[in-house]
Amino acid sequence: MAGRHLRDMIAAYGERDDLKFRRAAQAIIQEEEAKRHTVLAKELRAVLAANAGVGANDVLITPDPPVDRDSSLPLARVTHPDRLLGDLVLAEPTRAALGQIVNEVRNWPTLDRAGLPRRNRVLLSGPPGCGKTSAAVALAHELGRPLVTARVEGLISSYLGETAANLANLFAFASTGAYVLFLDEFDSLGKMREDASDHGELRRVVNAVLQQIDAYSGPSLIVAATNHSQVLDAALWRRFDSVVELGLPTRDQVLELLRRQLLGNGLADAVQHADDLAGLPHAATEFFANSAKRHALLDGRTSIDSSDVSFAAAEVMSRPWS
Ligand SMILES: Nc1ncnc2c1ncn2[C@@H]1O[C@H](COP(=O)(O)OP(=O)(O)OP(=O)(O)O)[C@@H](O)[C@H]1O
Ligand SMILES: [Mg+2]
Repeated sequence: MAGRHLRDMIAAYGERDDLKFRRAAQAIIQEEEAKRHTVLAKELRAVLAANAGVGANDVLITPDPPVDRDSSLPLARVTHPDRLLGDLVLAEPTRAALGQIVNEVRNWPTLDRAGLPRRNRVLLSGPPGCGKTSAAVALAHELGRPLVTARVEGLISSYLGETAANLANLFAFASTGAYVLFLDEFDSLGKMREDASDHGELRRVVNAVLQQIDAYSGPSLIVAATNHSQVLDAALWRRFDSVVELGLPTRDQVLELLRRQLLGNGLADAVQHADDLAGLPHAATEFFANSAKRHALLDGRTSIDSSDVSFAAAEVMSRPWS
């Protein structure tokens, strides 16, 4: 155990600095893991988790997330988002569903006191570029929580045996504070499950992920995202308390996106392309607006004209969006 972290821990006690204490404890746990003292590391994590508060403001400075032992790469990325739900252009039922999740999480203590189970597992489903990541970011910001993003594929170690440890470490990390734990590319698990029928070890890994999700009862909100709902079988869907659809934008939503992106500059020309953009993800309209702005600026103008918009439309249409 490195003396530095122990010193920090004792100093943190003297200073009554909870965050400093947690960071030092987290560093010690990671060192023990690196030395493969897994039993001790697990015990320490459990002790730390048992003392974690559930208040949204408990986590101000976030400890480093655990790392994969083979690659030494972090299993998750911690960010402090600044995007609100109001920044997204959403269908009304989608906005309502996300708003209800925020409201529920804020009121978990009330639900706990009433003996009602918390709903803490959300699945965001929809085509690429329609706001799954943006919605996870906005949920975290609305809740005042750091966003802990893990790619499901990144958790699957090249040594399958390590994967269970990765998962356990990630979920233990999510038990040390009130985060939004975002499991991106969740459909990779569905694909793995299909392949797993003739591969015993892979099947155990998929089951390990599901067990971690089932067993989780810590202070974090778990949010998973999938592009391909069809590859998720019932056993995977069942894990989630709420499923929120983020579909392609309607024409009205494209117009709203254009209004927000262009702020009136070149809007009259841009709306001519609303029908084409409505068949594409939100990301395409954002790309279209940026392309028009860029084209004008590089031509030495700040005002967008029809040549910029035509250029942008051709650029958008030349790209694959799904
Ligand atoms: N509903 C939305 N409202 C406003 N902007 C959006 C919306 N959806 C997507 N965007 C914009 O499109 C881009 C891509 O969005 P995002 O990364 O959230 O999509 P995604 O569904 O996570 O895509 P992927 O499946 O590829 O991960 C972002 O820059 C975002 O600003
Ligand atoms: Mg995404």
